[in-house]
Amino acid sequence: MTLRHFIDTQDFSKEELLELIELTRMIKAADKQGCTPKLLQDATLAMIFEEPSTRTRVSFEVAMTELGGHALYLKPGEIHLGVRESLGDTSRVLSRMCDVIMARTLQHATITGLAGTATVPVINGLTDYNHPTQVVCDVFTMIEHTPAGKRLEDLNVTFIGDATNVLSSLMLICTRLGMHFTHAAPKKYQAPAQWLQWAEENCQVSGGTVTVTEDPIAAVRDADYIYTDLWWWVGQEDEIPERRAAFMPKYQVNMDLLRQAPAHCKFMHCLPASRGVEATDEVMDSPQSIIFDQAENRLHTEKGILTWLVYPRLKRPSPELLAFHTGQIHNYLDGRC
Ligand code: CP
Repeated sequence: MTLRHFIDTQDFSKEELLELIELTRMIKAADKQGCTPKLLQDATLAMIFEEPSTRTRVSFEVAMTELGGHALYLKPGEIHLGVRESLGDTSRVLSRMCDVIMARTLQHATITGLAGTATVPVINGLTDYNHPTQVVCDVFTMIEHTPAGKRLEDLNVTFIGDATNVLSSLMLICTRLGMHFTHAAPKKYQAPAQWLQWAEENCQVSGGTVTVTEDPIAAVRDADYIYTDLWWWVGQEDEIPERRAAFMPKYQVNMDLLRQAPAHCKFMHCLPASRGVEATDEVMDSPQSIIFDQAENRLHTEKGILTWLVYPRLKRPSPELLAFHTGQIHNYLDGRC
């Protein structure tokens, strides 16, 4: 059975990403009728978190439960992650006991290190470089809210704000899928040249486009979706005054900016958000905001990703084989009584 990890959407073709999104759609439809199939019966997910999380942690744990499996929450200090044993040994041991590993790591090298020695699928739950599970969810959410008559390849997605791990992933998945992506930010906080090069390479294959600009008003003029993220993260507290001065007020998503976009334009945010900073309450709670649909879709997307990676690998013994082993063990135990 081929081992696939979910580290970067760049590792997947457009067709594979669309298959994954279709699987997610089917599982969500089943869930909405109260009949999620137990596709991962008795499977176990090991979840490693080096950073806090609400959506990623809860969505993966609930996804495993609803699919008939189980999730273990593991945090540094409670397991020997990179302390007293190598990362590779932790990964090998988890692979012997669990069916899949999901990790949120400070450094991207940690997730690739885990994947390098794992013999079960490893899922990236966010690193300093990217957030692939988030952006599969985002595209799924965009598809659900696509204006009538538009195809995926017609959609304009505008990200306003810092070049975060979400920006890198969103830029790459949108361009891989043939969508039209714009990043608006002050020069210092724009996507690095390497990300842009990968996005442009995606566009050459997919027919999508990528634009980077300092002008947020021009960036939203044709936007179907406006997306933003935090302007600073844990560890960047010292930079808050400088960052606030660079982004505020020009790059804040407020009603004045939203009104520059078409009336059908939707507002998205991966959350957590600093209300009143990168986006105002008025925008976040407006009828154009789909942030909570987006958050809920993390659950459905995790089910899709887990099922896509793990279902083909699970052993499903025949009733005869199960009866044989059960009989053998009962005979042994009964013989000892
Ligand atoms: N969007 C996201 O990953 O949220 P958490 O940090 O709460 O997991």
